[in-house]
Amino acid sequence: MRHAARSRRRQKPPALKPRKTYEGRMSEKTLAIPQDFILGAASSAWQTEGWSGKKPGQDSWLDLWYQNDRHVWHDGYGPAGATDLINRYEEDVALMKQAGLTHYRTSINWSRFFTDYEKGIVDEEYAAYYDRFLDAIRAAGVEPMICLEHYELPGYLFETYGGWSSKKVVELFVRYAEKVFERYHQKVSRWFTFNEPIVVQTRVYLDALRWPYEQNTATWMQWNHHKTLATAKVVRLFREKGYAGSVGAILNPEVTYPRSRAPHDVNAAERYDLFYNRVFLDPLVKGMYPPELVQLLEEHGVAWEYSEEELAIIRDNTVDELGINLYYPHRVKAPSRAWHPQTPFHPAYYYEPFELPGRRMNTSRGWEIYPRIIYDMAMRLKNEYGNIPWFVAESGMGVENEAQFRNADGVIEDDYRIGFIGEHLYQTLLAREAGANCQGYMLWAFTDNVSPMNAFKNRYGLVEIDLERQRARRAKKSLHWYRRLRESRTLTLTIDDEWK
Ligand code: BG6
Repeated sequence: MRHAARSRRRQKPPALKPRKTYEGRMSEKTLAIPQDFILGAASSAWQTEGWSGKKPGQDSWLDLWYQNDRHVWHDGYGPAGATDLINRYEEDVALMKQAGLTHYRTSINWSRFFTDYEKGIVDEEYAAYYDRFLDAIRAAGVEPMICLEHYELPGYLFETYGGWSSKKVVELFVRYAEKVFERYHQKVSRWFTFNEPIVVQTRVYLDALRWPYEQNTATWMQWNHHKTLATAKVVRLFREKGYAGSVGAILNPEVTYPRSRAPHDVNAAERYDLFYNRVFLDPLVKGMYPPELVQLLEEHGVAWEYSEEELAIIRDNTVDELGINLYYPHRVKAPSRAWHPQTPFHPAYYYEPFELPGRRMNTSRGWEIYPRIIYDMAMRLKNEYGNIPWFVAESGMGVENEAQFRNADGVIEDDYRIGFIGEHLYQTLLAREAGANCQGYMLWAFTDNVSPMNAFKNRYGLVEIDLERQRARRAKKSLHWYRRLRESRTLTLTIDDEWK
C-alpha cells in the first residue's frame, strides 16, 4: 500500500474547472495504445433495458426495492423506464459503432430470463431479444461481454429463500448459467458470473442502506460465500461442457491507503482490505479465503455455513480473468473510538474513513479523483495475484446537470470526462508497460443510465439520454474523442510530471 503522506503534496485543480498549467510541472505526454488493447464501455441490463415486456413475477431485488421505496430514487426515475434499451437497442448499437468501441459489457437480467425459476423455463420472448441484441452488437464489429448477474437477483428467490443466504439459490444460479451458455455460447466467449458481488449484501445487510434495511453481518458473509461458491461451480460447469472462451468475475476492490505509515493506520487499512477486497479476490484467484479473515470472523462470532467440499470446489475452480471496477481511492485511519459493546460486529470495528485534505473531488458523486489507483491495483494484481489477466471493467465520472455544458449545436462538451478518461487510461497504459497483465480499459458507461437511488442525477455516458425529449440519444463530445483514440491508438494528454 502506498503511503498517504506522499499524496498530500499533490495539489490538483478540481476536475470540473479548466486545467491550470503549473509551470515546469505539466507537460504533454504521448503513449501508444497496443492494437489488442480493449477500448470499450459497459452498462447493465437493469440500468438500461426498462420494464417493457416484463411479465408478472419477473421482478428483481432491485425492482422490489424501487417498488417499495420509490421516494429514495432521485426524481422517481429507476429501473422501470431506464433508457428503454429493449426497444431502442438498434440506435444504441449504431452509436457503439460510431464510438469505435472494441467491446461492450452488459448483463443478462436473470429475473427476466425465466418464467419459472424453479423449473428453469426460459422466457423465450426475452431470450430472443438477447439473440437479436447480441447479433446486432457483433454485426457492428463490437465484442460483447456478458455478466450473469449485475444485482438482478430474482425477487422471487429473494423472498422465498432469502436470496444468496440459501444454497438452493446457488444451485438455481448454476442452472441459469447452464441455460445461458447453451443458448449463447456461439455469440459470446467472455463471461462473468457477477458484477461487484460484494455490493448488494454490503448495502443491505452490513450497512442497512438499501431495502429491506437489515443489519446482520453473518448474512453478509453467507452471501459472500455463496456467490464465491456459485462462481466456482459456474467455472467448473463451463469447463466441463468444453465451451470456447472464459469465465471471470467483475470485482470492485477499493484501493485502500492508510492515513499514515504508523502501524495502527496501516493495520486499519489491512483490515479494511481483508473484509472488502481479499474476501473475494483471494478465493476467486487463489482458491482460498485468507486465513486471517476466517479467524477474525470466528473471533467476532460471525457464523456462516460452509463445508470442506465447498472449499474444495472453490480451490479447484478459480476464475480465468478479472474485470476490475475502479472509481476512487479509499482512505482509512485507525479507529479513534471504542466499539460499543452492544453494537454487533461490523468491519468498521477496525477502521474509520479518512478524508485527505486538498483531495481532488468529483463533487456530484462525492468521490475523490485519484487516477493512481489503477496503477497501484495493477501492481498488486501482478505481484500478489500471479499476474492474472484483467482489465479495467469500469472507470468513469458521473456529473450532475450536464445540460449546462451543451454547446450551440446541442452537443454536451464534456471536457472533464475526456480529462478523466485520459488520466485513468494513462495510468492503465503505464501499468501495462510496467508488466501488468492488463487487457484494456472500459468506461462506465456507454450511455447515461440509471444509478441505484441517484437514478439519472449523475450522467456517466459517452451518449446523452435526453429525458426531456423521450430519451433521445445524442453523442457527447467525449464519444468523438473516444473514437479518435481507437482510430489513432495513441493517447496524448497534458499531465503532471509527477505521474511519469
Ligand atoms: C458500479 C456499478 O459500482 O458503479 C454500476 O457496477 C454503477 O452499476 C456504477 O452504476 C456507478 O456508481 P453509481 O452509484 O454512481 O451509479
